[in-house]
This record gives sequence, C-alpha cells and structure tokens, in this order.
Amino acid sequence: MRLTILGGGGFRVPLVYRALLADEGKGRVTDVVLHDLDASRIAVIERVLAEQAAEFSDPPRVTVTTDLDEALTGADFVFSAIRVGGLPGRAADERLALEEGVLGQETVGAGGIAYGLRTIPVAVDIARRVAERAPDAWVINFTNPAGTVTEAMSRHLGDRVIGICDSPVGLGRRVAAALGVESESVWFDYAGLNHLGWLRAVRVDGRDVLPSLLADDAALASFEEGRLFGGEWLRAIGAVPNEYLHYYYFDRDAVAAAREAPKTRGALVLHQQRDFYARTADTPGSALEAWDATRLARETTYMAENREAAGAGERESCDLESGGYENVALALMRAIAQDERTTLILNVRNRGALPGLDDDAVVEVPCLVDANGARPVACAPLADHQLGLVTTVKAVERAVLEAATTGSRPAALRALATHPLVDSVAVARRLLERYEDHFPQLAYLRATGA
Ligand code: G6P
Ligand code: MN
Repeated sequence: MRLTILGGGGFRVPLVYRALLADEGKGRVTDVVLHDLDASRIAVIERVLAEQAAEFSDPPRVTVTTDLDEALTGADFVFSAIRVGGLPGRAADERLALEEGVLGQETVGAGGIAYGLRTIPVAVDIARRVAERAPDAWVINFTNPAGTVTEAMSRHLGDRVIGICDSPVGLGRRVAAALGVESESVWFDYAGLNHLGWLRAVRVDGRDVLPSLLADDAALASFEEGRLFGGEWLRAIGAVPNEYLHYYYFDRDAVAAAREAPKTRGALVLHQQRDFYARTADTPGSALEAWDATRLARETTYMAENREAAGAGERESCDLESGGYENVALALMRAIAQDERTTLILNVRNRGALPGLDDDAVVEVPCLVDANGARPVACAPLADHQLGLVTTVKAVERAVLEAATTGSRPAALRALATHPLVDSVAVARRLLERYEDHFPQLAYLRATGA
C-alpha cells in the first residue's frame, strides 16, 4: 500500500512515520512517497525517518520527489499537509492582525482567513490533479484551515477527501481521564466546525456522564479545557468547548495576552524549526534526537498565552507525547483500507447529519468509517448560541471560498468584516490591504466580483 505525503518535508512527518512503523497489521503501508517543494527540508526529514526505521526489520520504504504528478501516480492514500507561505506566512498572518488590534491566530479570525485565501487555490489544484492522476485514492487533509480547505477540495473530490484534526480526540482523551473512564468505550457527542465544536454529552452504558463532570470543580481543574474555561462558564453552556473556542469566549483577554507576548506563536515555531532544519543539515549528529527535542519544546509551549490568560498552568504530560493527529490519520486509513469499521470525529460533508447546515457544508462530527469512507452520524441539534456562531463562521468560510475560487475581492472583504472576531469594516479594509501588500499569493484578488 502506497501513501503519498504532500508537505513531506514538514516537521510532523516523523510522527506519521512513527505510527506507520508501529503498525504491524495486514495491509499496512509499505511505501511512503514524500513530496515537497523544498528538497533541503525533505533531506533533513529523510534522515530522521532513516534513524526511526533503523530498529525495524521491515520498515515502509521511503522515496522522495519534488514532482507532484509523479508523487500522486499510484497512490492509495494521499495526506495533504502543506503550508502555503510557510511558517513565515503564518507569523505574518498573526502579526498583521494583532497590529490592527484583533486576534492573530493560525486558523481563527483574520489570520485564518488570510491563510485560507492563499491556501485554497493551491489545495484546489491538488484536488484536480488527484482526480486526474489518482482517482481511486483517498485524500486525508491535514492542511489548515482544515474545514475550509476540505470543503474546497470536496467540490472536486466529493466524499473521497476527509479532513482531520487532533483537537477533538485530545479533548475526548482528557475528559475521559477526568471522568476515570476508558475513552474507547465512550460515545463522545461532539459537533461543530473544525476548531469550533463542543462536547455536549459523554455516554457510558447509555447514560450521559458529562453533567457529573460539569458539577465537579476539582475534576474540572484536572484538565486543560476545564482550567481554560472555568467551571462556571462550562456549567452556563452545559458543554465542554474545543480549546480554540477560548479565542471567541475570551477574545479580549486572548488578544491582550498575544500582544504582550514577545513573539506570536507562528514566529516562535518558525524560529524553533528554522534552527532545527539548519542545524541538522549542517551537522552529522543524530537528526532524530534533534527533532525530538524541538518537538517537545514546541508541544510544551502550545497555547501558552491562552493558558496564561486563564491562569491554567502547564500542559499535561499525556499531551506532550503527541497530539494524536497521526493516530487519527492511521486509524482512518486502516478503517478504509481494511474495512475495519470504526468511529472517528472527522471533517466531512454534512449530508443532513447536523441540523441547521446544508448538505455540502463540511462539519466536524462523529463519523462511521469503513471501506466506503466516512459517513457522518446523525447529531442532536446545536444549541442556539452554538448554531449562531457556527452559521456565522460557515458564512465567512463560504466568502473565503468564493474569493479564492472566483478572485472576488469584495468577497474577501466580506469574509474579514463579517468574522465575529473582526469588529469593524474599517479594520477589515486595512487588513485586506496589508495582507495583499505582504503576500504575492493574493495577487489574484480583483476589484470586482466574478
Ligand atoms: C493543533 C491543531 C492544528 C494546529 C496545531 C498548531 O494540533 O489541531 O490544527 O495546526 O495545533 O500547533 P503549533 O505547535 O504549530 O502551534
Ligand atoms: Mn486542528
């Protein structure tokens, strides 16, 4: 079985390869093709993978290429994990927004919109090339903003593209630990959009045990989301939000904390990684040890400003090992390839599962996965305040998609100005100008609509 990874020189590729090495089941991946535009990054990652493989007798073979069509031909699965504009682009998305006094974040608010505007044209091109070169392949999209990018690709690949994120699994794992239950035997009633969802119920033996957790301040203080949001707020909404909702519910505090920080998250990660790739390329020592040290430094500081603003303290040790994103991808791939039916929280077209959103809207909900792909499970409706936010943000995503697919600048302005975390059309107008000045990838935007 052949797996192609687009963005194959990316920092998280060794996490995926580690999960592949641990897989001894039948039908496992035998060939990994790494595709990246930057050959020097792939060379470093190849060294890390070679060290990882050293103790295994029959590791998946790794080949590399900078040619997209060559990478896609013959692929059974394609992981799309690209970053258009790289980490310098992410840092600029974040910084320009913060300079205008609004949230600057990789996927949420103005930063996420700028990131979507430059990523969607590339993602659509990939989707078209997959449809031509590897029409039977399943595409697993990791590229952020994952919900919007998956929806863009689904217009060309239908339900053969599935978006993934590690945050709902992480939330489920932490909540299960706080409740003292095994997460495998639990039904997590989670629904929303990527980075904008809520855990509304946790069913064990047919009973919802979430109310008992919400009533228990000590248990709430034992995990990240409990500390981030606080018991009073969680009880007020009767659910546990995805950690990214901290940016909405504590917008002013998150912006203040980010503006006080010496660097944005993107700038911090950029410096860590730049150092890792440069140092590893220049030195003969262990690339794997250098990678692991950088990975741990990165995980330790994840969402540091939000945790500081909330007085939430350090990250839990189980979250430092890895976010679990590679395990979601592997579980999804196995379920499809081996027809081993399982349930995973994924980003797929709604098809009637979540009331209030149309059939083509990509949503993040529990799905039944088998050889036929991922089908969303019928969900209880969102509460009014949740649905209001979700439909507003979906409208923003659709404006981003319109701008990126037709070149309409008014649609891009509408996306920025109607986002709940951008509080003025004047700010949106300035932001659009500044993003256009900064990013050559936005040159496609034209003064008029399609
Ligand atoms: C989580 C999210 C990803 C996001 C990442 C950022 O894993 O699910 O969507 O890209 O965090 O982490 P970073 O270390 O790059 O700030
Ligand atoms: Mn994510």
